[in-house]
Amino acid sequence: MKKTLIANWKENPKNEKMAIALFRAATKVRQLDNIQTIICPPFIYLEKIAGIAQSLHKKNHPLLGAQDVFWEDKGAYTGEVGPAMLKKLGVKYVIVGHSERRQWLNETDSMINKKIKAALDAGLHIILCVGESAVVRKKGIVASERFVKSQLVKDLKGISFDKKTSSQLMVAYEPIWAIGTGRSSTPKEAALMISYIKKTLTSHFAFRNFKVLYGGSVNNKNVDSYIQCNEIDGALVGGASLKAETWKAMVGKRT
Ligand code: PGA
Repeated sequence: MKKTLIANWKENPKNEKMAIALFRAATKVRQLDNIQTIICPPFIYLEKIAGIAQSLHKKNHPLLGAQDVFWEDKGAYTGEVGPAMLKKLGVKYVIVGHSERRQWLNETDSMINKKIKAALDAGLHIILCVGESAVVRKKGIVASERFVKSQLVKDLKGISFDKKTSSQLMVAYEPIWAIGTGRSSTPKEAALMISYIKKTLTSHFAFRNFKVLYGGSVNNKNVDSYIQCNEIDGALVGGASLKAETWKAMVGKRT
C-alpha cells in the first residue's frame, strides 16, 4: 500500500499567485514511487488549482483535498461549502474535524459526524482528524486512548462501512500538543496510538482497508522516521508543506 502525504495549507498562502506557485512547485518534483500526495488549499484557491491539476497528465500527481465541508449541499447556510460543490471542482478528499476547527470554531463531534456522512454520500474521501490535548496526555497513555476512542465512536456514529466506503476513510492521529509546536510525537509513540486506532476501527466498526496517518510537526527531517514505520500509513503536514523546497524534499526522490 502506498504511503500518503497530505499538505494542509490551513489559511495560507496569502494570495492566489503564491498558492499557484506552491502548487506548481509540488507538481515539478519527481515523487517517490511509494507515496501519493494530497494537497489541501483554502477553498478560495481550489478552483484555480483544480484547473491546473486537471491539465496535468502526469502519473502520481498530487490529488486535491479541501480543509472542511458542510453537511448540506445548498440552502441558507451563510459561509458554508457543501460536498456537491467540492465534488464539482474535482476535489477528492476532505479534512474533517481538525483540532483547530474543534478549538476555534467549537466544532462538535455531532457536527463532524454529519459532515462525514454527507461527504461519504457524495463520494468524497474523508481525512478524519483525532487526537488528545496536552492535558489529557499528561494523564497517561490509557487516558489518551480513551479520549481518541471516544472521538472516533462519536464522529463515526451510525456509519456502516462496506468494502468500498471503508476505502473512503482515512484517520489522521494528530495529538494537539504536537501541532505547530515542533514537539512531534516520537514515531514509536505515534505507531502505538495508530495501532490502537486501527484495532478500534476494526473491532468497533468492522472497518477494513483504511489508512491511519500521523500529523503534528512533521517535516523534511523527520518524515522518513514516520513513513518507514509499518503501522503509520503516511503523514498530515501543516507548516512544512508551505515551503516549496521543504515539501519537495519530503515527497521527492531522495538523493
Ligand atoms: P503542523 O500541522 O505540521 O504544522 O504541526 C499539522 C496539522 O495541523 O495538520
